[in-house]
Amino acid sequence: MPNIQQIAQKYFEKQHIANIQNLNGHIIVTLMDAPENSQTADALKQELLSHQEVQKATIIFTRKKIPAQTAELQKWNLKNIKHIIGVASGKGGVGKSTTAVNLALALANLGQKTAVFDADIYGPSLPTMLSFENTPPVSYDGKTFEPFENFGVKAMSIGSLIERDTPLIWRGAKACGAIEQMMSETNWGDIDIMVIDMPPGTGDIQITLSQHLNLDGIAIVSTPQDVALIDAVKGVNMFEQIHTPILGIIQNMSYYICPHCGEKTYIFGQNGAKNTANQMGIKFLGDIPLDISVRQNADNGTPIVAAEPDSPLTKAYEDIATKILEMLKK
Ligand SMILES: Nc1ncnc2c1ncn2[C@@H]1O[C@H](COP(=O)(O)OP(=O)(O)OP(=O)(O)O)[C@@H](O)[C@H]1O
Ligand SMILES: [Mg+2]
Repeated sequence: MPNIQQIAQKYFEKQHIANIQNLNGHIIVTLMDAPENSQTADALKQELLSHQEVQKATIIFTRKKIPAQTAELQKWNLKNIKHIIGVASGKGGVGKSTTAVNLALALANLGQKTAVFDADIYGPSLPTMLSFENTPPVSYDGKTFEPFENFGVKAMSIGSLIERDTPLIWRGAKACGAIEQMMSETNWGDIDIMVIDMPPGTGDIQITLSQHLNLDGIAIVSTPQDVALIDAVKGVNMFEQIHTPILGIIQNMSYYICPHCGEKTYIFGQNGAKNTANQMGIKFLGDIPLDISVRQNADNGTPIVAAEPDSPLTKAYEDIATKILEMLKK
């Protein structure tokens, strides 16, 4: 393999080269605060590709967004919640919400007092997955909300405050305030662990949540597929930039088991997310197979962990929950 750092430095200054990754011949160069010159990026890409060991090259521009006063930002008032973790993904539709909800149920099965919060302003899905769609939250004092409670977990969703067909532009402007309100004005009671379903990608909501909550860490969900992985790498880099620890990567839709013959098919490629985790020095949290019962149960409002407590799929979520709990103990 050629010296990628040296090659990259011919095109971008050393201080802008934040990270270089080699995912089995797919080189990902992450630049930080570099001038966004697509010609230079292209030239670098071409030079990398001229080496036969390089099968693919991706150049990612990132920016530091941390305001100088980060340390003084007021934390939201969530006193009785011991641990908070986020479930995030760089890309939409990789199974973040399904994973967040089943993980929360798995944590509850392991004896944790668990809450799950839906911060996905673009597509809140907890109300459907936990059967509280079209039910407004109850308030006894006109100031605070009672959380929904189903399958042993407490839940609240930004979808309960923002109506489904509300224009996106309104959501963007008010979303952070709405999230703060829902989170800090819900009567959670004593909670061991709260799981937050983050919106996809790397935007203001993620940054706001990281700044105003003491997040214990983020679990990144990715499919084994190349495009999802590049986004996962971006997500990891973004959270690292804002000093939020990464718990690890969960590989969702890892493989499909034929219900007739039992054969495993790696629809989105094999072990892509696992390899990426290893190469980035990040913990691999586990595999969730692609299984129709995961989707059906989520759509029906009874997540698989509640619907099929003895299934190997439930075990897969519980294994991930166990790993996360071990990490939180340290
Ligand atoms: N392991 C799985 N097996 C089968 N279907 C799955 C699996 N994980 C997720 N799904 C299905 O894939 C679809 C997308 O999942 P989900 O809504 O959880 O993704 P997401 O990352 O939260 O998406 P968005 O970015 O839209 O919020 C859903 O229909 C869900 O039921
Ligand atoms: Mg979602």
